[in-house]
Amino acid sequence: MPPELPAALVEYLQQSRVALAIAAADDDNHLLMVNARFCTLTGYAPEDVVGRNCRMLQRDASNDEPRARLREFLAQPRQANVRTPIVNFRKDGTPFVNLLYMSRLRSIDGATTYIFASQFDVSRSQPELLSDYDAQLAQTLGRLTPIAGDAGIVVEGTLLTIANSAATVAQAKMMLAGLETDVRA
Ligand SMILES: Cc1cc2nc3c(=O)[nH]c(=O)nc-3n(C[C@H](O)[C@H](O)[C@H](O)COP(=O)(O)O)c2cc1C
Repeated sequence: MPPELPAALVEYLQQSRVALAIAAADDDNHLLMVNARFCTLTGYAPEDVVGRNCRMLQRDASNDEPRARLREFLAQPRQANVRTPIVNFRKDGTPFVNLLYMSRLRSIDGATTYIFASQFDVSRSQPELLSDYDAQLAQTLGRLTPIAGDAGIVVEGTLLTIANSAATVAQAKMMLAGLETDVRA
């Protein structure tokens, strides 16, 4: 079991304007906390998801390629972070393309203690909103570093910003349109 999340860290993550989730690095990565923005985005309350693996958001979407990338990240302690679009569903069943970012929170001895993640609905966004989100996520990670440091936790990985937000949003919208056609068919 990972040590309990330090209160200062939880407090900071809770008030962030971007959706965030923290999972245990072991034990099938069960969620330890999700913030208010995560709940607004997904429609799930903390008690619906804490203690479970976040793959529950995928329902029966196959997501083979993104899942393989996420599994590879989790299996490779030296990989600092990963970023991929992945099909998810809100609690009410509405599909969306989640631009998922994951990185590691390590203890001073280098062991991964927690996995940090942020979620963004890139399929109902605009290029400017994706750029804003990137900036806010970078700011969240930047400010988290000293707060986590005080609790003996090292924040790993600088954000891989999206180079072409217009193309990323356009692709996600196409993916979503495909999903909505499948649902109607
Ligand atoms: C902290 C954390 C947050 C995650 N958030 C999401 C998420 O929002 N949506 C999602 O589809 N997967 C999310 N995942 C990824 C899944 O939990 C899982 O790692 C992924 O589906 C690959 O593993 P699997 O093929 O065994 O399911 C998250 C993982 C972690 C550790």
